[in-house]
Amino acid sequence: MKTLVVYASKGGYSRECAQKIAAGLTNGADVVDAKKDAFKTDIASYDTVILGGGILAGRLPGALRRYCLKNAFALEQKRIGLFICGTDPENHEKVFNSNYPAGLVEKAAVKKWFGGRILFADQKGIMRFVLKKMLKGENDVHAEQPEAVQAFVSAIEAI
Ligand SMILES: Cc1cc2nc3c(=O)[nH]c(=O)nc-3n(C[C@H](O)[C@H](O)[C@H](O)COP(=O)(O)O)c2cc1C
Repeated sequence: MKTLVVYASKGGYSRECAQKIAAGLTNGADVVDAKKDAFKTDIASYDTVILGGGILAGRLPGALRRYCLKNAFALEQKRIGLFICGTDPENHEKVFNSNYPAGLVEKAAVKKWFGGRILFADQKGIMRFVLKKMLKGENDVHAEQPEAVQAFVSAIEAI
């Protein structure tokens, strides 16, 4: 079984999760960035496609949303796994439904939230200022859920 993982990541956490998935699968996976090499990758040769990215203000990065829409028909013929990364422990179902095409959400054999993290060293300018106000300080936020990534890998292996 051949697997493709397409991710979109601003801060790097979703990329790390995508790489962990590939490392955890018995047959491995090809990992591509939705903003860079995904459009050059022919999905015809893959049986399973995993899609995921980091939520910013309730939205997945535009490149991943566009990728899903442009490839909607081809993706609906595959085994599908979806993941989201974010620091908000609630409303995941809503985030899946508002960011992935309905057909993909319905088709997905596995859907998981992997937690998230905010590293202040990565934030600049107005974004750093806004986050500092919102989070009442400049402490990094660590809400990673590595066990969810492992559970996702096990669930993908089982389909
Ligand atoms: C400006 C900004 C907005 C964010 N908005 C959300 C949000 O709406 N919901 C959420 O769960 N997490 C939110 N987060 C947390 C990110 O989803 C988290 O940092 C995640 O790890 C990002 O993934 P990435 O590192 O792959 O970009 C936000 C983070 C930043 C910096």
